[in-house]
Amino acid sequence: MFKRETPTPVLASVLQPPKEIRPFELTGGDGETFTLDNLRGQWTLVYFGYTYCPDVCPTSLAVMGQAMKELETEANVKGLLISVDPARDTLEQLKAYAPFFHPEITGLRGSDAQILEVATRYGTYYQKVEREEGKDYLVDHTSRIFIIDKNGELAGVARHGSTPQEVVDRVRRLL
Ligand code: NI
Repeated sequence: MFKRETPTPVLASVLQPPKEIRPFELTGGDGETFTLDNLRGQWTLVYFGYTYCPDVCPTSLAVMGQAMKELETEANVKGLLISVDPARDTLEQLKAYAPFFHPEITGLRGSDAQILEVATRYGTYYQKVEREEGKDYLVDHTSRIFIIDKNGELAGVARHGSTPQEVVDRVRRLL
């Protein structure tokens, strides 16, 4: 679900110089620890979302997956889905969901504190939204694709609504 995204006049931006992301620790795959070191030596597209998201996350992750496919022959590009709903997003759930959009997208989760810390560093907002009885809650969240360079540093951002081609162009300009 998507709300409260601050409108920006450009579809994507490049950060100069890259912004260093401080060390973080999350969990992915079958329970392996995932840290900043896992990002080094590759380009990484990072998206914050959750597997129960009804519309925005699937659309954004499809865009991310298509961009990754397009870039396959040019660069080593991996994808990350960092869950803003770790209460429901188990590792099993993330493993079943994330690779659907591209085999190289890994779902990551962590404790509430760990997720909050990483999200804050990326300037990402998320908020649980209760709905009427009998309906599962939703999570409002910022919908941006972060572009991380080979040093694990934040190099660019593709805003919500970017097309796969816009994401590809943004990454190409950084390569
Ligand atoms: Ni979503």
